[in-house]
Amino acid sequence: MIIILFGPPGAGKGTQAQRIEKSKGLIQLSTGDMLRAAVAAQTHYGQKAKDKMDAGQLVSDDIVIGIIADRIKADDCKGGFLLDGFPRNVAQAQALDVMLAEEGVKLDAVIEMKVDDAVLVDRISGRYTCAKCNEGYHDTNLKPVVEGVCDNCGGTEFKRRNDDNAETVAKRLKEYYAQTAPVLPYYAEKGILQQVNGMNAIDEVAAQIDAVLAV
Ligand code: AP5
Repeated sequence: MIIILFGPPGAGKGTQAQRIEKSKGLIQLSTGDMLRAAVAAQTHYGQKAKDKMDAGQLVSDDIVIGIIADRIKADDCKGGFLLDGFPRNVAQAQALDVMLAEEGVKLDAVIEMKVDDAVLVDRISGRYTCAKCNEGYHDTNLKPVVEGVCDNCGGTEFKRRNDDNAETVAKRLKEYYAQTAPVLPYYAEKGILQQVNGMNAIDEVAAQIDAVLAV
C-alpha cells in the first residue's frame, strides 16, 4: 500500500505516520525529517536546504524530488510506504506519478487532515521530539507516560525544531495555502482523495484513518 498523509504544518501528519508505520508496517517517508537529517549532517543538500527551511519556505523541487526518487527504490519500501510532507506542489505530485510508474506501483490513497489555523499554531508551539529516536510529543496533548523519558526508546534528551516559532509558522502556513493546497484538486480528479477531521483527538484521527485504509 502507498499512501500520502496531506495537510498543513501541525495537522498531525508525522504523529499519524509514526502510528501507521508501527501498526501497518508501512515505511514513513518524511521529507521534513530527511531534510533535517541532511542539515544536521551538513551535506551538500542540507546546506542548500537550511536557509529555506528556517525561513518557512519550500526547498527546491530538484532536491526533494531527488531524495524521494532515491528513497522509494530501497528494499524496505517494497512492502509499501507512506509519504509525509511530499508532494508539496503540483510539480512534485506530477514527478511522483512518474516515479511510481517507473517502479510499477500506484498510489492507493491521499488522506487530507483538516485542522483550523488557530489550532495549528498551538500544536506546533508545544511540539517536541525525542533526540534519539524522533518520537513526537506535545507539552499538553501528548506527553510521555513517564515524564522526561521517551515511551519508544527510553531516551531522556528531547529537542524542538528551529522552524517551530510563531513567525516561521505563519510563513509555513502561507506557503501551504499558496503552493501545497492546490495539489488537492489534482488528487480529487484521480478519485483517491479522502478527508479526515484532524481537529479530533489523536486516537480518533487514527481510527478515522484506519477506516479509510480498510476500505
Ligand atoms: P515538515 O517537517 O514536513 O513540516 P510540516 O509540513 O510543516 O509539518 P509538521 O511536521 O510541522 O507537522 P505535522 O503535520 O507532521 O504535525 P505533527 O504530527 O508533528 O517540513 C518542514 C520544512 O521542510 C518545510 O517548511 C520546508 O522548508 C521543507 N520541506 C519538507 N518537505 C518538503 C517538500 N516536499 N518540498 C519542499 N520543501 C519541503 O503534530 C504537531 C503537534 O501536534 C505534535 O506535538 C503532536 O503531538 C500534536 N498533535 C498531533 N495530532 C494531534 C491531535 N489530533 N490533537 C492534538 N494534538 C495533536
